[in-house]
Amino acid sequence: MSLLEDIHEVQRQLQHDLSQIDINAQSVENLRIKYLGKKGLIAGLFKDFGALSSSEKPEFGKALNTLKKTAEEQIKSLQNRVAEQDNKGTSFDYTLPGYPFRQGRLHPITQTMNRICDIFGEMGFGIEFGPEVETDFNNFQALNFPPNHPARDMQDTFFVDKDILLRTHTSPIQIRTMLKTKPPVRILAPGRVYRNEAINPRSYCVFHQIEGLYVDENVTFAELKLTIEVFAKRFFSKDVQLRFRPSFFPFTEPSAEVDISCIICGGSGCRLCKHTGWLEIMGCGMVDPNVFTACQIDPEKYTGYAFGMGAERIALLKYGIDDIRLFYEGDIRFLRQF
Ligand code: DAH
Repeated sequence: MSLLEDIHEVQRQLQHDLSQIDINAQSVENLRIKYLGKKGLIAGLFKDFGALSSSEKPEFGKALNTLKKTAEEQIKSLQNRVAEQDNKGTSFDYTLPGYPFRQGRLHPITQTMNRICDIFGEMGFGIEFGPEVETDFNNFQALNFPPNHPARDMQDTFFVDKDILLRTHTSPIQIRTMLKTKPPVRILAPGRVYRNEAINPRSYCVFHQIEGLYVDENVTFAELKLTIEVFAKRFFSKDVQLRFRPSFFPFTEPSAEVDISCIICGGSGCRLCKHTGWLEIMGCGMVDPNVFTACQIDPEKYTGYAFGMGAERIALLKYGIDDIRLFYEGDIRFLRQF
């Protein structure tokens, strides 16, 4: 057999081995030793090649070099594939369970406002919204806060301009609604409000209110009481007792503040109710005739009631939380509990 035939035979063997190989570090190394090792098949051919006469060398040399180069390239590419498999193996384990998907949820204040809107919605109240940047007229004047009246001090206002401000309550939505809709009007107005107040566990400079307004002929304080009672029993518990305390708001006359019996101690006294047995939940009253007049509604013909509550306060009571700031910190450990 001539050397050329030997070269072709090794080439055939190499192709056969390559087609059969199960790629892993050991089998590739075995293949390398078999063909490219010091005592490998190709080294053997080179030995035979050394024995040839110088006139024969050019022809066989070329074929032998091609074989060696091919073997080197193909084995190198197998080694690369083994290395790639190893890398994958260390960085990713396909048998690991997947990452759990955390489901998002509504913020407790949003949940509280939605629930309040649902309860009043079932009693026939529609929803109205208003802008957070308001006029002095809508926020104060039309609500019967006269200019320079001390009642304005009840609300520490962020002014944008002389007559433009960040609304201090959702009551201006009453005005907007009555200016565009003639009675009967029965609406709930949820929204964000702003007050220039020091931040502490009880108050924050931004919070949420829900305003209610019902205007028609012959609306009475008794209806107001019943509506609030139905709400409080549905929202807190059917066992809560209600108490209406006389109070003052410029836009209602008479005005009242509403307390419910403490939802923790039931009225016997505890830390939440500061040992009074009662928790204040909202302000309310009969719409002041001056407010009707400002909205071009005849106060002789119509009466109405209004109420307003703080969503944060309601949520604090409902969930027994003692620091309002928790609602704004975005701490997932807190929010996840709702
Ligand atoms: N606007 C009042 C406040 O921010 C809350 C309020 C009290 C609204 C009585 C009303 C109401 O509609 O009748 O303190």
